[in-house]
Order: sequence, then structure tokens, then C-alpha cells
Amino acid sequence: MADLVIALDYPDARGALGMAERLKGADVWMKVGLELFTAEGPSLISRIKDLGFKVFLDMKFFDIPNTVRGAVRSSVRHGVDMVNIHLMGGERMARAAMEGLHEGAAGSGASPILLGVTVLTSMSQEDLPKGFSTTLPETVLQLASAGNSWGIHGVVCSGHEVVAIKNSCGKGYLCLTPGIRPVALGDDQRRTMTPAEAVQAGSDFLVVGRPVTGSDDPAQAAHAILEAMKQA
Ligand code: C5P
Repeated sequence: MADLVIALDYPDARGALGMAERLKGADVWMKVGLELFTAEGPSLISRIKDLGFKVFLDMKFFDIPNTVRGAVRSSVRHGVDMVNIHLMGGERMARAAMEGLHEGAAGSGASPILLGVTVLTSMSQEDLPKGFSTTLPETVLQLASAGNSWGIHGVVCSGHEVVAIKNSCGKGYLCLTPGIRPVALGDDQRRTMTPAEAVQAGSDFLVVGRPVTGSDDPAQAAHAILEAMKQA
């Protein structure tokens, strides 16, 4: 069964922890991104974990191998259960990130997950640098396959890319998919999927933000999505 990850897209701890409190007891993960982590730092991670949630730290690290290794190691030492890097950083960076993951978890009994970002879903073919000879879907697949051979656990991708990635990399290679919409919201997400469609495509983690956090009853909204995932 796939897991549901709630995107805590808040500028500060007050909003994020208020939402986490309202979702307490739900079988969901929490995603902490750049804005929230930069504002509040690692203490927020422990406070979310204290409420009983697993945490995905969505920092998309991209730097020289040694720096990324240290950043991943520090993330895991803060108790983060899943963290990500940009696969455009290449093989040495990805392998260094895996070393950091293992170093951070050493002795804790934890088995954190390292995912790679292929091409941001906000990008289109025109955003790729001139001279790129492959199409965007080919680039996504090439980076996903490269990540697989470099030993990371999976990728962040559009729900529409999951089948091709699983066919090429194997079922055990994890796919985490944002852009999940139970119903059309008319917001900024474009290539969306329903929770059932994403589960049927084989996605392992579904990231949902506003359909839950913007709902009058977030716990009920999360529950409805979890039910739809179970039925799929
Ligand atoms: O509110 P919504 O459901 O659109 O939130 C989706 C979350 O997933 C946001 O935190 C967004 O930054 C993140 N995300 C995304 N597309 C990606 C990677 C991350 O929407 N390719």
C-alpha cells in the first residue's frame, strides 16, 4: 500500500504544527520543504516526530559531493526518515549522498530513504538548456535509471512517469508523486492525478498539500484520500 505524505507548506512553525496537531493520529507522513525548514530549523523536525509522524525533508540538495554527503548525514541525524537530492548532481554526488545517509543512520536502527529529483515538474522542454539532445521524458527516464544504478532508493516524479520508470528500473525503485488532486481545484498544478490513479500507476508515496491543508476538515480530507488509496 502506498503512503500519503502531507506537504506542510507554511512559513513558520505555528501554521505547520497547528496543521500537524489537527492530523494527529492519521496514518500519514509530513513533508517539510525549503521555506519551513529555513525558517524554523531542525527543532521543527523533532516536534513533528513527537506528534507521531514520519518526516520527508524536501530540500533537493545539489552541491559538490562532500557538501551533499554532510547535508544528508545531518538531516538523518535530526531523525528525518526521507530526504532528497537532485540527480543532475551526478554519480559522485549521489553516491556521496548515500554514504551520508548511512553515516547519519549508523547505530540508530533507522533505515532512511534517499530519493532523487529528475527534472522538476514545473519545467518544460523550453526550460532545458539549448543543446539538450533528448526530450524531457527521455531525460527524466535517463536520470531515473542513472539514479537506480547509483544506488539511491527512488525518485520524485510526476504520476504520469511512474509506469515508464518502474518498467525500466524495477518495481522496488520507489516513486514519490506530487500533483495529486482528489477533485479538480483549478490551481497551479497541471498534470494531476487522482489518488486512485496514482496508486494504480504504482506510485509508492503520494504528496498532497492544499487539498488537505486548505480543507475545512483536514483530518476528514486525509481520511477520504487514504480510503480512495485503499480502494484503488
Ligand atoms: O498543495 P499541493 O498538493 O500542490 O502541494 C504539492 C507539494 O509537492 C508542494 O510542497 C510542492 O512544492 C511539492 N512538489 C510539487 N512538484 C514537484 C516536487 C514537489 O508539487 N515536482
